[in-house]
Amino acid sequence: MVSATGSVPYLEAVRLRKEFSGVDGSQVRVEVLESVSLSFEQGSFTSIVGPSGCGKSTFLQMVAGLLRPSQGEVRFRGRPVSSPHPAMIYLFQQYNRSLFAWKTVSQNIAFGLKNRPHDRRTLAQEVARAIQAVGLQGFENHYPTVLFITHDIDEAIYLAQRVVVMSRAPARVVAEFEVPMSYPRHQIASRENPIYLDLRRRVFGSIGSVFENSGS
Ligand SMILES: Nc1ncnc2c1ncn2[C@@H]1O[C@H](COP(=O)(O)OP(=O)(O)OP(=O)(O)O)[C@@H](O)[C@H]1O
Ligand SMILES: [Mg+2]
Repeated sequence: MVSATGSVPYLEAVRLRKEFSGVDGSQVRVEVLESVSLSFEQGSFTSIVGPSGCGKSTFLQMVAGLLRPSQGEVRFRGRPVSSPHPAMIYLFQQYNRSLFAWKTVSQNIAFGLKNRPHDRRTLAQEVARAIQAVGLQGFENHYPTVLFITHDIDEAIYLAQRVVVMSRAPARVVAEFEVPMSYPRHQIASRENPIYLDLRRRVFGSIGSVFENSGS
C-alpha cells in the first residue's frame, strides 16, 4: 500500500488475520483478528483501545514480528516482517515512566540519566554507551514510533497523535481519531482543552457503541 504522499509507509499491517486453534489442543478455531489494516508513520504515536480479549496484544505481537499472522502481512519500510525487527522494541510500561514521543532517542535516554549528577560531557558519553548497549546506533536522532495499547481512554488520547478503536473479537478497526494537539502536552491544560474534551467524548462514544453492538 502506498500512502497519499506516494511513499511507502514506515510500518504497515496489511489485512492481518489471526486465528488460534482451541485451548487444550482442540480443533476448534477461534478467530481473534478479522482483517486489520493500519499504517504507522515514522516517529508517530498511535494508541489502540478496545474491549478486553479483542486481540490488541495479538495484533501488537504480530506487528513486532513475535507472532505469525494466519493471513496478511506486516511490512517495515515496505519489506515483510517475519521475525523481530531491530527497530522495534516490545515494552510493558507505565506511561508516567515511559518514553516521551516528543524527545529523540538520545533525549529520552539523557532524561532518564538526569537524576544522576553529570556534567554535559559525561552525560553525552553515558548516552552513547546506552545507545551502543541496546544496538540503537544510527537512531540517536530518531523519534520513537510508538504503538501503544491501553485500557485508559484518557491516557490513550493524552499521549497519542491517533487513537484506533477496535471491535470485540474477531477484531476490526471500528474508528480512527486524529488528536490535533501539539507536544509537549500538559497534564492539566491539555485535558481542559476543548479539542481534547470533544475528542474524549467521541472516543468514549465509539467504545460505547462497540459494547452495545455486541449486546453486553
Ligand atoms: N496463544 C493463544 N492460543 C489460543 N488463544 C489465544 C492465544 N493468545 C491469545 N488468545 C486468545 O485471543 C483472544 C485475544 O487475546 P489478546 O490477548 O490479544 O486480547 P487483548 O485485546 O490484548 O486483551 P486485554 O485487553 O485483556 O489485554 C483472547 O480470547 C485470548 O484468549
Ligand atoms: Mg492485551
